[in-house]
Amino acid sequence: MSAVGKKLIGQMLDGGWTIVSERQPPPTASGGCFSYGFIARGSDGQEVFVKVLDIRLNSTHADPLKDLEIRIQRFNYEAEIARACAEDRLSRVAHAVAHGVLRVGAGGTEEFPYLVFERAAGDLRDQVARERQLPPWVCYRVLHNVAVAIRQLHAKHIAHQDVKPSNVLDYGTAGHKLGDFGSAQVHARLRPGPILPIAGDPGYAPPEQLYRYYVDDWVLRRLMGDVYHLGSLALFLLTGESATSRLARQLAPEHHWDVWTGAADDLIPILERSLAEIVDEVLAEHTGLDPGMHVELTQILRYLLEPDPRLRGYPADRSEGVPNGMQRLISRFNVFSEAARVRAPARGRR
Ligand SMILES: Nc1ncnc2c1ncn2[C@@H]1O[C@H](COP(=O)(O)OP(=O)(O)OP(=O)(O)O)[C@@H](O)[C@H]1O
Ligand SMILES: [Mg+2]
Repeated sequence: MSAVGKKLIGQMLDGGWTIVSERQPPPTASGGCFSYGFIARGSDGQEVFVKVLDIRLNSTHADPLKDLEIRIQRFNYEAEIARACAEDRLSRVAHAVAHGVLRVGAGGTEEFPYLVFERAAGDLRDQVARERQLPPWVCYRVLHNVAVAIRQLHAKHIAHQDVKPSNVLDYGTAGHKLGDFGSAQVHARLRPGPILPIAGDPGYAPPEQLYRYYVDDWVLRRLMGDVYHLGSLALFLLTGESATSRLARQLAPEHHWDVWTGAADDLIPILERSLAEIVDEVLAEHTGLDPGMHVELTQILRYLLEPDPRLRGYPADRSEGVPNGMQRLISRFNVFSEAARVRAPARGRR
């Protein structure tokens, strides 16, 4: 248990929830070390997930006060997004149900701001680690749910920027919802703190962020990043590995983002070839679809994982001027899920 956990277990939050356990981050977790997850229980026995910010000064930081100021501003920014999504009742986004500040210690001198969310059964990273290979129809159902979440957020001018398995939450019979607005950005309001070249988790970053060839355009730099992440999530669901990780293995060492210093125009065709090969390899295995849909899925993943953000997205959406359009994808993932379910062995259908 963390030092923060030791202080907070047993404490009661404003809504009457008592903190009962701390979520142990997996060893591979990339999360910032200033946010902690807890499970709390209400008097009716219902459980919620509580995200707590540690606002103690980090004395090892070069500028501890500035560091703390940014942490607080970012937490507030995340909280505002989570609350706005809950107010609008976005169906595929995890809802924040309360927020507040917990005061502990002698005289309540230590303060911990928190956000309370509807509790999920777990996240997709854990689900895939546990079940190894989800049936294809479930994979397409998850992609459908996440595409709906992206559409809902983009309609509110929010770029999520960190769509990855650990941020896709499993709500059982209610399906999957997108959580974690810790890297999200609202169009009209910049995120507090420095603007980073890689907006979310580097292990899932789109090529333009890895190689820094992005352009400072809201749609291309922010919204099209979410589109790539959706394609990467598809690869993860089918293989257990993100597109970024697979790309690192596929590329010749001299083309890897850690060493490449050449021009983007020379690089993009190389990335296009590698990503197309990856999609073909992944889909050569079992997709649960008939040959026609298999071809269509191959095309869709190539559209999503296109390394040039100006060319990324469903062509019909791009020609209509909405390259981040999700409606066609939502409809296709729905069709794929139904088709794969019918073809699945009877015991694989839920
Ligand atoms: N509503 C929820 N119910 C149950 N578990 C949750 C919920 N929200 C988050 N979690 C779990 O806690 C983990 C961390 O939460 P979250 O992603 O919001 O925080 P984070 O500090 O930004 O983490 P990271 O940087 O790893 O994405 C999630 O990956 C998930 O396993
Ligand atoms: Mg997260």
